[in-house]
Amino acid sequence: MPSMKFLFRSLLLALLLSSCARGPANTGAITLRFMDAPDIGGAWAQLIDRFEAAHADIHIELIEGPASTNAREEIYTEAFLSGEPIFDLVYMDIIWLAQFAHSGWLRSLIPYIEEDALEEFLPGDVAGCKYQDELYAVPMRSDTSVLYYRKDLLEEAGFPPPAGLHELVTVAKSLQVLPFQWGYVFQGAQDEGLVCNFFELLWGMGGDLNLDGGEIVLNTPEAVEALRWQQNLIHLHKISPPGVTKYHEEETRHMFHEGRAVFMHNWPYAWILAQKPDSPVRGKVGILPLLQRADKESPPVLGGWRFGISALSEHPEEAWEFIRFATSAESQKLFHFANGAIPTRRALFEDPEILLESPHYSALYPALLKAHARPMHPKYAQVSGVLQRHLHRALVSGEDPQKVLKAAEAELLSTLD
Ligand code: GLC
Repeated sequence: MPSMKFLFRSLLLALLLSSCARGPANTGAITLRFMDAPDIGGAWAQLIDRFEAAHADIHIELIEGPASTNAREEIYTEAFLSGEPIFDLVYMDIIWLAQFAHSGWLRSLIPYIEEDALEEFLPGDVAGCKYQDELYAVPMRSDTSVLYYRKDLLEEAGFPPPAGLHELVTVAKSLQVLPFQWGYVFQGAQDEGLVCNFFELLWGMGGDLNLDGGEIVLNTPEAVEALRWQQNLIHLHKISPPGVTKYHEEETRHMFHEGRAVFMHNWPYAWILAQKPDSPVRGKVGILPLLQRADKESPPVLGGWRFGISALSEHPEEAWEFIRFATSAESQKLFHFANGAIPTRRALFEDPEILLESPHYSALYPALLKAHARPMHPKYAQVSGVLQRHLHRALVSGEDPQKVLKAAEAELLSTLD
């Protein structure tokens, strides 16, 4: 019997193909399509309106796909495999680029942009647009994980913001009011967010997962410590609800925004949304760079989104026109205020209007500079899929981390064989 995922993908593909067959919505205009998650804050709608007002001959169609990056990657993949130019524009997570480029699904953007112009962007984001020295994308939004806390609650209780992971556990335990308000929420669903949380802890414990050449070694003391740390949040310290194993970024954010968590691990977009006039936690939130173990310095995860042009596109010039517009300083500023997206243009971290609304940007900038990308590997999706299954099982069951990592390692070896 076909899986739900398969049925869902087929349905979406059929919808896309029928919308392709209908052609452009504006007579005489060509339609360029791309997909992202649901349009939080109406940021895309505003940006597309502005673009179309200045380009009567180009119609941009945003497909609001599933919130999960993995689910959207599969849909793009199906679209490429169909051989139809369903998406002219490819709006990609940093982790998809290697596979899409390796498969020949993206055009090189070297003819469109000078190396000098790329220097205006954060270097890690530009590196995340390249595969084997070829440029395949332009960075639109950057990302790195941060820690949010309820400033009001900590201040009332006389706690300073925690300086390390152990302190976080102590403060969370002491301030949580169960079952209504939990100490710490993070992304524990079987999805990419969980892998990001794991990588940070792994790096924080001094470990790594290297996919380039040689043996894949996952079952290390550092990885065991990282996974045990995640399990303990739920099973030992009980500062994270068992339901956290179903949380993606948005469920985590809703929980925190409803006042139901003291600390939250998430991406920086949640800051602007917490400050909106209807937010119950407006003015009550603090934000910190990701916490480390007291004795180790380690990088946070680099996430982020970029635009490429499909190799199947028959309108690369028009697609480039949109990419140029969308990645401009003006568009990135619009995005920042509408949905909290982190710019990729370095100058915006000194923009007075942005700093007024997001004073933590001065601290975020160095964090972005030292953030590490997950492995840029053509088989990253499969690797992450294996990690997600095993890590998630371990979180739910509390199973021995060494046993789980040993099984995951064996599967990784055959995946990458
Ligand atoms: C954010 C990051 C992206 C990451 C995803 C995980 O969107 O920008 O890089 O893969 O979260 O859910």
